Amino acid sequence: MKILTVVGARPQFIKAAAVSNILRKSHSEILVHTGQHYDENMSKVFFEELNIPKPDYNLGVGSGSHGKQTGTMLIKLEEIYEKEKPDVVLVYGDTNSTLAGALCASKLLIPVAHVEAGLRSFNMEMPEEQNRVLTDHVSNILFVPTKSAEENLKREGIDKGIYNVGDVMFDAILNFKKLAKNKNKIMKDLDLEGKEYILTTIHRAENTDHIDRLNNIVDALNECGRIVVLPLHPRTRKYMLDYGLEFNENVKVTDPVGYLEMINLEMNSQKIVTDSGGVQKEAFFMKKPCITMRDETEWVETVENGWNKIVGTDVKKILDGILNFVPLKEQKNIFGDGKASSRITKILDR
Ligand code: UD1
Ligand code: UDP
Repeated sequence: MKILTVVGARPQFIKAAAVSNILRKSHSEILVHTGQHYDENMSKVFFEELNIPKPDYNLGVGSGSHGKQTGTMLIKLEEIYEKEKPDVVLVYGDTNSTLAGALCASKLLIPVAHVEAGLRSFNMEMPEEQNRVLTDHVSNILFVPTKSAEENLKREGIDKGIYNVGDVMFDAILNFKKLAKNKNKIMKDLDLEGKEYILTTIHRAENTDHIDRLNNIVDALNECGRIVVLPLHPRTRKYMLDYGLEFNENVKVTDPVGYLEMINLEMNSQKIVTDSGGVQKEAFFMKKPCITMRDETEWVETVENGWNKIVGTDVKKILDGILNFVPLKEQKNIFGDGKASSRITKILDR
């Protein structure tokens, strides 16, 4: 079967790293990179480190408003779909690249398979929620990672083509954990060895695009009295400059890091404080307490299981999470057995 996969943003490279190499044992795959993420440390580093096959096409779409970015992708993808005539288009997650990949295929009546289907924050102001809902409703094969994702789809009237395969990011962690153990350049550069630190990421539009919310996050990290390590997403760097916000010395800011360095930082951290979807899950995989600076999460099982605390962006609540949150429960198996990629391949075979 000819599968055309569309990726474009950092978390999708990591998900494709788990799936592509297994998929290619029994299918032919055309890999399209939309170019949504393009800095070396947001794109190339992942292809190199994780041995992801070289994209057959790079659309070079780059940054822009939602309409311009998604529209340019649609125009360029249509030409490629018409030329390649894939049997199925495979998309991951909830970015503008996901929506463009799925919508373009749907219009050309090419079946769509969506990995990480069914996730919901129930906050339609989030661009990710709009992308997820729209993508799921034009998808024919919906690979869900959790039981709650399956229930979300059924509640929306989607009852065919749903497969609970587990989480491909769990596959990725199991594949790369060993390699990541020695990837400690950042640990060394920041003189972190033997020290306790909090690992943080911030990039969600709901936080970066609102000065009050970003200001609160910066205040909380500055005031927490702990070493904080922060690989800073370019979006957040830009808004920090625009708003004139600065971190204190306890916050060690770095450029975005590769996946293996990131996993190494996660493994050695005391707690993780984030607004990322993927990093919330990785905190769970690494058995690290997670403090989520959002008002809701799609990964509800991590909260129900007691390992993730939703604190929003109130300074006191973030500080309370950083200083006092301790998971009290044993972890349950939420994300499957690390064989999601094989299951996805087998289901596509059928
Ligand atoms: C996107 C996704 C988000 C996902 C995140 C993963 C959408 C709507 N959002 O957000 O769901 O969690 O990726 O990281 O698809 N920039 C650079 N260099 C790059 C990429 C981006 O400088 O290589 C800067 C540009 O100023 C750009 C901004 O970051 O305008 C935002 O990039 P964009 O791809 O639009 O969204 P993300 O915030 O990365
Ligand atoms: N990540 C990374 N380097 C960084 C920050 C994050 O490799 O500097 C990885 C992280 O380990 C996770 C993924 O990127 O696997 C999450 O992506 P991101 O937070 O950008 O997006 P989201 O998951 O929120 O969509």
